[in-house]
Amino acid sequence: MTALSENIRSKGKRIAFVPTMGALHKGHLSLISIAKEKADIVVVSIYVNPLQFAPNEDFATYPRDIEGDTVKCENAGCDILFVPGNTDLYPEKESFRIDVGEMGKVLDGITRPHFFGGVATVVAKLFHLVRPHIAIFGQKDLQQGIVIKKLVRDFKFNINIILGPIIREGNGLAMSSRNEYLSQHDRDRAGVIFTTLQHGVKTIMAGERDRKIINAEMIKHFRSYGDLNLDYIQAVAALDLETPDAFLPGEEIALLIAAYSGKTRLIDNTIVKVPEHKLDDKTDDRFIELGE
Ligand code: PAJ
Repeated sequence: MTALSENIRSKGKRIAFVPTMGALHKGHLSLISIAKEKADIVVVSIYVNPLQFAPNEDFATYPRDIEGDTVKCENAGCDILFVPGNTDLYPEKESFRIDVGEMGKVLDGITRPHFFGGVATVVAKLFHLVRPHIAIFGQKDLQQGIVIKKLVRDFKFNINIILGPIIREGNGLAMSSRNEYLSQHDRDRAGVIFTTLQHGVKTIMAGERDRKIINAEMIKHFRSYGDLNLDYIQAVAALDLETPDAFLPGEEIALLIAAYSGKTRLIDNTIVKVPEHKLDDKTDDRFIELGE
């Protein structure tokens, strides 16, 4: 992989990289098309990274379909599909793991304390092997995207990180490889995650800036219109995931939800800018397009 990349680089061509764990869906494919627009050569990796799964999680059952994924990658215009094995990435006795600090201890990091360290460690290794100019991640995993941006900044990777928009199912459910676990009933019920985000956006666009009130509004909607088990609903500063008492006009707020439909843990988010002026109900047509 590295020899290929060095050869491409020596010809002055630019490489865009899309790291994945496979079981590719339209969300992944949208990142590949962004990569194609931004660079000459597109590299996709597929690797189900054991380090980001806790022992009680779904590493063994995580969907794997390397043949189907190969066809999808080819059709999407991927130039190089990189499928490393465990010994390519992890030495028999590993010496180092990346500690992502406070950012890894909030939101998803509370339920999944091992997760962001595992992601940062494997992504750093993949970046060294693939040597891209640009790497594309999905806003779907917003906290992961922010962690990767900080990883690149702190460790001086010369890689431009781009976050692509969230691709959704018809009922608003964010696409995810784990959606394969859902029964039709659980898939339908999961639509409340998206309507709760929409309700949060509406609340902010109507002028609410108090974080606790925004959270309470979303929780009320989530419980009134659905019956999923909630992990968290949080409005935070999109820039750094901080939790101020009130948001400022013009500030970007990230609304994030993690919830269980059946046994499957689902995450979703949207980003909304606090209006400069409080709006009345008639201006609801200024509703932003979610996930963009
Ligand atoms: P995976 O879950 O396969 O996701 C790969 C990339 O696709 C991530 O950047 C993710 O945010 C993006 N993605 C997933 N669903 C999406 C959707 N509905 N719309 C747009 N983009 C979407 O995230 C991982 O793998 C791993 O943690 C990885 C970064 C590969 C490290 O192991």
